Amino acid sequence: MNTFSKKIMITGGAGFIGSHLVRLFVNNYPAYLVVNLDALTYAGNLENLRDVEGRVNYVFEKGDILDEARIGELFGKYQFDAVIHLAAESHVDRSIKDPLAFVRTNVLGTVTLLNACRQYWGKDMKGKLFYHVSTDEVYGSLGETGFFTEETAYDPRSPYSASKASSDHFVMAYHHTYGLPVVMSNCSNNYGSHHFPEKLIPLMINNIKNNKSLPVYGKGENVRDWLFVEDHARAIDTIFHKGNIGDKYNVGGFNEWKNIDLVHLLCRIMDKKLGRPEGSSAKLITYVTDRPGHDLRYAIDATKLNRELGWKPSLQFEEGLEKTVDWYLQNEEWVRHVTSGDYQHYYADQYAKR
Ligand code: NAD
Ligand code: TYD
Repeated sequence: MNTFSKKIMITGGAGFIGSHLVRLFVNNYPAYLVVNLDALTYAGNLENLRDVEGRVNYVFEKGDILDEARIGELFGKYQFDAVIHLAAESHVDRSIKDPLAFVRTNVLGTVTLLNACRQYWGKDMKGKLFYHVSTDEVYGSLGETGFFTEETAYDPRSPYSASKASSDHFVMAYHHTYGLPVVMSNCSNNYGSHHFPEKLIPLMINNIKNNKSLPVYGKGENVRDWLFVEDHARAIDTIFHKGNIGDKYNVGGFNEWKNIDLVHLLCRIMDKKLGRPEGSSAKLITYVTDRPGHDLRYAIDATKLNRELGWKPSLQFEEGLEKTVDWYLQNEEWVRHVTSGDYQHYYADQYAKR
């Protein structure tokens, strides 16, 4: 194990963004050992990482970030140099139904990890790093104009964003109080392959394919700023290697879409791909009761990340969306498996047998 130049724990690596990040690190940094710690909740699935399974610089460890003893055991076993923390409850609608689950995982789970870093890294924290992956939703809701910058005051308005905001504050508090080397990024909405089909884009793709109604909340006027997930993974890579300790960076696509326009665009792409008459998928659009406290608009100003570290998005939205649609159409099995949960346990069992 000491042959690796860095040993990195990535939490939540079996989820949507985490699996893209694990793949990027395992492929691009053979000198790093990547340890994926994931509890495999409904949102985590090892099928997302079949292509890196068995690689010498990759290990999966099942575990809950709330489980202090398990985290301690892993710190002892691997002597981590860095933690990149993505494990979270991530769906706003679920947070409205069960806020405490979000407090547990997102707040207590993060603090449990911070404590482990303090304890195992001791006083000499040189060369160590805790990277916290967060969201633009902590900034609240914008009106028709303006952008979130790194200086925008936090104003979370859903239980999900309140739990992420709280975790962000703890990360910065551990930096200021205990000198823990941290860095943080707040990203806009991601889209791409391996996205659990409860979120807007994969849900709509799946429903269009199956001729099911397309539930648009309220009037569909809410605006989100969409970023291709592989661009987010590249941003995390850049910030991990070049970001200033104690700093935070906004990550976004400069790509704002009203939900209803986005759903229409998806319908047009899907009509073409499925050989359906133009306009047929749009007939499935159904306006439904709005989400309580639904934030009107998110828009990220990612200038700092571009200016200081040279990152920018690589894909035009239409191109990324077509790629995403193609992936879902070619991976119908994956959708079946993640929604049934069967394979989640199959893969976990395979690991347990090793
Ligand atoms: P996801 O829901 O797809 O994946 C979360 C992963 O965390 C899953 O693999 C799950 O099994 C794991 N997990 C959950 N609770 C755990 C626990 N207690 N212990 C260990 N593992 C646990 O989420 P995602 O969309 O990939 O988001 C990853 C991170 O990025 C989150 O912190 C989220 O707040 C942040 N983020 C997401 C977006 C987005 O658009 N999806 C945008 C900005 C920031
Ligand atoms: P979502 O993917 O849940 O991400 P977030 O709430 O974190 O931005 O939702 C994206 C937008 O789409 C949000 O404005 C809510 C809306 N939405 C719908 O209109 N219908 C749906 O079925 C879902 C899941 C979301």
